Amino acid sequence: MNIKEMLQMVDHWVFAETDQHLDDLQKTIIEEISQGKTYKQIADLYGYHENYVGDESRKLFKILSEKLGENINKQNFGWTFERVTDNFQGFNFVNGNLNLCHNNQTSNNNNNSNYHKQKSNFYDLTFAPQILKFYNRETELKKLNNYIFNQNIRLISVLGLSGIGKTYLVKRFVDLNLENFEVIIWKSLKYPESLDLLIDEILNICQIEIKPNNNKLNQLFDIFSNKKCLIILDDVQNIFIKGDFAGKYKPEYQNYQDFLTRITETEHQSNLILISQEECDQMCCLDEELYPVNCLELFGLNNIEILRNMGLKDEDSWLNLINLYEGNPFYLKSIGLLIKKNYDGYVADFLAENSSTGILPVNNITILPVNNITILPVNNITILPVITTQMQSHFKTIFNNLSSIEQAMVLQLSKFNQPITREDLRQSLNLNSVDFNNGLQSLQQRYLVTKIKKDKIMFNLSPVFREYLINIVVG
Ligand SMILES: Nc1ncnc2c1ncn2[C@@H]1O[C@H](COP(=O)(O)OP(=O)(O)OP(=O)(O)O)[C@@H](O)[C@H]1O
Ligand SMILES: [Mg+2]
Repeated sequence: MNIKEMLQMVDHWVFAETDQHLDDLQKTIIEEISQGKTYKQIADLYGYHENYVGDESRKLFKILSEKLGENINKQNFGWTFERVTDNFQGFNFVNGNLNLCHNNQTSNNNNNSNYHKQKSNFYDLTFAPQILKFYNRETELKKLNNYIFNQNIRLISVLGLSGIGKTYLVKRFVDLNLENFEVIIWKSLKYPESLDLLIDEILNICQIEIKPNNNKLNQLFDIFSNKKCLIILDDVQNIFIKGDFAGKYKPEYQNYQDFLTRITETEHQSNLILISQEECDQMCCLDEELYPVNCLELFGLNNIEILRNMGLKDEDSWLNLINLYEGNPFYLKSIGLLIKKNYDGYVADFLAENSSTGILPVNNITILPVNNITILPVNNITILPVITTQMQSHFKTIFNNLSSIEQAMVLQLSKFNQPITREDLRQSLNLNSVDFNNGLQSLQQRYLVTKIKKDKIMFNLSPVFREYLINIVVG
């Protein structure tokens, strides 16, 4: 059993006991503990306190113990899980994937199942997060509504930096529109699977028997035509090659490209939403009238409630903190935890301690306007974003996934404390025109670099990523 199957099964048990799905931390705990990590290692890796990870793990083991009727703890979790799943009759794995309803008396009778079949509707949201609090994004929700219900855009991509809120936004849209679709299936490509398996899963969920001589893809498109389906593929960037320019398919997932093209070009009534940190060619629309394709790019959230919920203090300083961290909810949650621990929640103290006035040291940055967010009252003050250990491991992955040309470009861009023109950037780099242009385009497809249109066209590196590069990569 692989980790994905393990998570699916644990999620099902937890949902049956609590009516709630596994949250991100619980998923992390299962993943890491099954790989032998200690609470301390998990805490260090993800920026939590060790006691917090321990407490959350114990709560989770208590739920599992109650569900399975035996004492489960960190030490015996792995082998107990294996033993129980070997004997467990209530699940049916089809091609290695959990099928919660198909041909199975036990699961059909399980009212707590996360798989819902109502009349002829099929919903599988096993891998979608549960949203407890959701802020803003009214414009984006309206756009999604419009694309899907008015324009019948068949392929929609929700794009943006990691942690900016893509998954949350789409799940919110799904929650608000459950009754408007006959089929809703949420799949995560965090651990990608072949297109073939994905199609099997969708057909299984819709209780369509796969006929050996039939073309499965045709069967799938029959469903797309006959029913209003919404298929969501999250974490799509994982089917793209690491260490190359953005949006190039790994050879084993190359056929996703044809699948996306067929979704766009064939007449049907269904919609596919792709959620990705990386844009690929099939996601862009060059002519809205010709192609039913569109993308929604997400930028920072300007909402102080996120900070209020964390119990932070000094409300007057919250907008400054939000600006400093580009309104990225993941960065804000991470720095909020640090401020609570080290500054007892006093945001003003944190900002003051990390500010300097007067002439800027070479490596320091001046905070620049980021997208639609109002900006810090900078004057002569420079505030340095502190990069938490959680952000460091996150940026390390992002940096390592770049092509060598993009790595050279972001390192060069990090030397400038304000947006720079294409000509100036080109002059400062020793790259031929093809590499330079492909690199610059690719960085924008990853939302690490944004284009600012003023008197001149300027390019701006994400300020928090820049601080990481200056302090950690360049050292
Ligand atoms: N609109 C929102 N309201 C409240 N919280 C939000 C909102 N958007 C995001 N968040 C918070 O930020 C976190 C990160 O959001 P999300 O997981 O959607 O990011 P993402 O863009 O999908 O990142 P990744 O690309 O790494 O998957 C969420 O766990 C949630 O706590
Ligand atoms: Mg996501």
